Amino acid sequence: MNRATPKVTVVGSLNVDLVCHAIRKPDKGETIIGDAFDIFTGGKGFNQATAAARLNAEVALVGSIGSDPFGDLLRTAVKNENINSRFITRRTDIGTGIATIVVEPDGDNSIIVVPRANMALTTADIDAAADCIANADVLLLQLETPIAASEHAAAIAKQHGATVVLNPAPAQPLPDSLLGYVDILTPNQSETELLAGRTVNNQDEAGRAAETLRERMVGSENSAVVLTLGEQGTLMLTETTSELIPALPVQPVDTTGAGDAFCGALATALASGEHLRSAVGFANAAGAAAVTVIGATPSMPTRAKIERLLKSGK
Ligand code: RIB
Repeated sequence: MNRATPKVTVVGSLNVDLVCHAIRKPDKGETIIGDAFDIFTGGKGFNQATAAARLNAEVALVGSIGSDPFGDLLRTAVKNENINSRFITRRTDIGTGIATIVVEPDGDNSIIVVPRANMALTTADIDAAADCIANADVLLLQLETPIAASEHAAAIAKQHGATVVLNPAPAQPLPDSLLGYVDILTPNQSETELLAGRTVNNQDEAGRAAETLRERMVGSENSAVVLTLGEQGTLMLTETTSELIPALPVQPVDTTGAGDAFCGALATALASGEHLRSAVGFANAAGAAAVTVIGATPSMPTRAKIERLLKSGK
């Protein structure tokens, strides 16, 4: 089945990313001189919403920003990406979320997020967006906004038959009450280790950890864990299958936002009615495309770029 206009609602964060490019991140007590500085829009929620919107999904973002210049920057960016901004609340008592990011020459990144207004998102804000969540094909969640708000949104989505995708980033322990609403969980290696309480050093360990996580997702008959393993590819575990989908060989310049491109593309493909295996292949290519561009939001790829990558294999 292919739906004409896939509908994706994202409940999540909006940040401004303050990015330093440097030979390495500083050690404790050390100051180092960097090579370049950029300010980008970001936040896992906004990045994932942008990824879906650039792939032509109808996207709404439910979130919270401050009444400051960073909030203005994000509001304009949301509009420019054709994302429905009606459910983005502006707070007057707290500033917009920020992330300070160090990107090293091999493209690896280290991030400190100060969520600020993102953590002011309430269940009342979710109630205000209830129709938009209920009418979505896919609800997409991350962990830079309060868990109570995400859980409430997931409950509404499930009640109305939407697929719930949770990207459990940044890593933190999760209540079974939230996992019980999740259809598809997309952790990376370190998030899997924290959530499953197991090490993930090879494919066998990844499979066992993914199975431990899937056992906690009791509310969904078709639950799946889609474990992103960077250069090793993506492990997809369902009730009946376990498959490693290899990563596409690309030259990384900045890995920031690769997981967001993956999740936004996965949500869009699922919302279009694609089967999980084909959606994961598409998302894999979206993640690969994102690491070839500097910045988080700027690296969210177009459909043409993903299709080129899938065709050429590099
Ligand atoms: O996933 C990348 C994002 O993480 C950045 O844009 C930053 O804002 C943090 O939320």
